[in-house]
Amino acid sequence: MGFLVMRLFLILCLGLVTCERTGFLKKEAFATVPELITSAGYPIEKHRVTTEDGYILQMHRIPAGRRTARKAGFSAKGKKAVLIVHGLLGSSGDFVIMGPERSLAYLLADEGYDVWLGNQRGNVYTAHVNYTKSNPRFWNYSFHEHGKYDVPAMVDKILNVTGVPKVMYVGYSMGTTSFFVMMSERPEYNDKVISFVALAPAVYLSNIKFLATATLKTLELPERMRSQGMISVSVTRDLLDLVVGRLCFRGKVEDDLCMRVVYLIVGDDYEQYDKDKIIVTLARAQPASWRQLEHFGKIAISDVFTSWEDGLWGRVKPYNISNVKVPVTLLYGHNDQLTEKNEIMRLAEELSATGTLEEVRPACDWPKFNHLDFAFAKDVGILLNKPLVGYINTLFNKYGPK
Ligand SMILES: *[C@@H]1O[C@H](CO)[C@@H](O)[C@H](O)[C@H]1NC(C)=O
Ligand SMILES: *[C@@H]1O[C@H](CO)[C@@H](O)[C@H](O)[C@H]1NC(C)=O
Ligand SMILES: *[C@@H]1O[C@H](CO)[C@@H](O)[C@H](O)[C@H]1NC(C)=O
Ligand SMILES: *[C@@H]1O[C@H](CO)[C@@H](O)[C@H](O)[C@H]1NC(C)=O
Repeated sequence: MGFLVMRLFLILCLGLVTCERTGFLKKEAFATVPELITSAGYPIEKHRVTTEDGYILQMHRIPAGRRTARKAGFSAKGKKAVLIVHGLLGSSGDFVIMGPERSLAYLLADEGYDVWLGNQRGNVYTAHVNYTKSNPRFWNYSFHEHGKYDVPAMVDKILNVTGVPKVMYVGYSMGTTSFFVMMSERPEYNDKVISFVALAPAVYLSNIKFLATATLKTLELPERMRSQGMISVSVTRDLLDLVVGRLCFRGKVEDDLCMRVVYLIVGDDYEQYDKDKIIVTLARAQPASWRQLEHFGKIAISDVFTSWEDGLWGRVKPYNISNVKVPVTLLYGHNDQLTEKNEIMRLAEELSATGTLEEVRPACDWPKFNHLDFAFAKDVGILLNKPLVGYINTLFNKYGPK
């Protein structure tokens, strides 16, 4: 009895602490992407795409910059279209969350681009015509399906709405994986893309072989989680309150256990750590399928950019990188431990052999630039995005429709 009371007391205390700490998360953490864009003063359009296999994806379009949008009767007609595709656990929000002056989507829109932010199946802006997210069938996919169905459908949508013949594709991390899968499986899409800018491309991953083997072979994590009824990789509000409110982000970043674990995986960069934004980003983290992790694991363990087909331990069947026909730029972070320079150089060699490598180089000079910095570095505006907008201008001039 005493034990029960004590437990009740404990639960109550924890509850109170959790509730009190919930206020800790800014409103920004829960605003939708269209709300964020509107409050930043930019125009926003939502577009719905349905893929061949029944997934419904919401795209977010910023058709003009802040100044242009205030003029009466502005039109995005004939503007240069850019599609930006997010990475694992991400969404369209990753390219606006740092706000004007820093986020890529806003900088491009202010420069006169017609900016389209994609959402790949799995995140909050996606659904299925027949399955809800509590149906395990919803989660039966990896970036193979992102590349084969989602990205092509989004490209077609942009061409259809804007009437332009081709788009510029910018991918971040898994958003680059989808691109390579798309071109391997559906090479006809080369005709719809001007050029491809790959931020921290995730194609070869032998550097995380140990992590993948430990997670998938030794611990059999996805199998165990599935058998526990956890049908997707997701961060629940409870877990978030616990982690964000009570375990992490309490003192200096150097002493923060949670950030140290994160930095172990993505590379440490204490100076570019923006505490407010990291918390918001964590709160906005999107679900993934176990298959996505397993598929990356298969690539890491086999050391081949392989399709899934026969499952984790089944036959390896390489995607065809020589199907990429458009100019590709690969940008790596000096201190990115997840998509490491060496692995990216290997991809660069292959693209170079088929004549499609435009350039491979560091994203910026900052020696600590890590995997997350591509989206969330404190100085991502000056370090990466402002020069990148200039570079995209150059690509358009060189390869864009005349
Ligand atoms: C959805 O369900 C309908 C009716 O059962 C079926 O005809 C259709 O093929 C399903 N679509 C997908 C993509 O599963
Ligand atoms: C998942 O999809 C594959 C085809 O991509 C299919 O062969 C398999 O049966 C599906 N599994 C489940 C559990 O729906
Ligand atoms: C867009 O799609 C609609 C319906 O599928 C089609 O009728 C229309 O011609 C397309 N427009 C362009 C510009 O491709
Ligand atoms: C890969 O694509 C290239 C060019 O698109 C083609 O010549 C080659 O046969 C393909 N390789 C395989 C294994 O399908």
